[in-house]
Amino acid sequence: MATAEQIKTLIKSHFEADSMRFSTVALQIAAHEAKQGHISVADEIKKLVDKSKVKVIKLRPFNEDLNGLVLELSPKVKLSDLIVSDKIKERMQRILHEFKQKDKLLKHGLENRRKILLSGPPGTGKTMTAAIFARELQLPLYVILMDKLVTKFMGETSVKLRLLFESISERQGVYLFDEFDAIGGERALNNDVGEMRRILNSFLQMIEQDTSNSIIISATNNLDLLDQALFRRFDDVIHYNIPSKTEGTELIINKLGKYKGRYSLDKLNFEGLSHSEISQAVLDAIKISILNDKQKVDYQLLNSMINEKKHAYKSQ
Ligand SMILES: Nc1ncnc2c1ncn2[C@@H]1O[C@H](COP(=O)(O)OP(=O)(O)O)[C@@H](O)[C@H]1O
Ligand SMILES: [Mg+2]
Repeated sequence: MATAEQIKTLIKSHFEADSMRFSTVALQIAAHEAKQGHISVADEIKKLVDKSKVKVIKLRPFNEDLNGLVLELSPKVKLSDLIVSDKIKERMQRILHEFKQKDKLLKHGLENRRKILLSGPPGTGKTMTAAIFARELQLPLYVILMDKLVTKFMGETSVKLRLLFESISERQGVYLFDEFDAIGGERALNNDVGEMRRILNSFLQMIEQDTSNSIIISATNNLDLLDQALFRRFDDVIHYNIPSKTEGTELIINKLGKYKGRYSLDKLNFEGLSHSEISQAVLDAIKISILNDKQKVDYQLLNSMINEKKHAYKSQ
């Protein structure tokens, strides 16, 4: 006979539409029955679970407790929109390639690389990279809102993390833990440091133990805050940087598109600006041109918008 605890869990998982847990408990009961010598009952239970398995996984909605914690997006950004070094592009291609060929790897007992850490200054393409993976692999992008995930209550945070990792197994997608150092970094200053460390550690452990088909991306602007030892939990660590002269120029040409005039960008100085700041400066220049009924952005305007960005953080 199933224990009272098991029956309660069955009822609960039914009402929470948690079919994974339902199946797990049903199989526990089967195992228990088998031990008692009730072989045919055990077999019947197992068969029932097996029969329902295929349908079950697809139908499961996000657990209610994860509402407001995960954004589901289907991004449109292309790999060609991203301006990064060839080295980074190659690393990305390898991740995509291994994902697409994962069955072949699996036959040889190998796994595709899918636990990725992205680091680098703000505005250099980390979030964009996650979006590109989703688009290229035709998977949904799930962005985990870290500030909602981490609460004052350690227990609550762990429960949410556990639910999240269950979803990762059941719903294939690209999962982005953006600025995940929120767990271990600044927030720790206002909170119990030991507590936050424990949460960060359990997060990293869950990543390590994950055997799903999803891609898990953690992004951080503050690599220094993180313990080097955690790098080994990821299959790949990719470092982003602000654009080189060539990369920045390519970005500007891309962003200007048909609004570019016949000038060279060789002398344009955008040193120190991130991809994001450069993109914004170009868009500002395009907007001004449009509002002035100009077909092209002129060089002086472009230059001054870039300078405006460079001095944005200095007091006047
Ligand atoms: N490497 C890049 N190539 C092209 N555009 C970029 C790049 N990095 C950032 N951008 C532009 O800046 C925006 C913000 O970048 P994002 O990926 O959110 O930066 P991060 O996550 O590294 O802070 C992007 O949507 C894109 O328009
Ligand atoms: Mg980002």
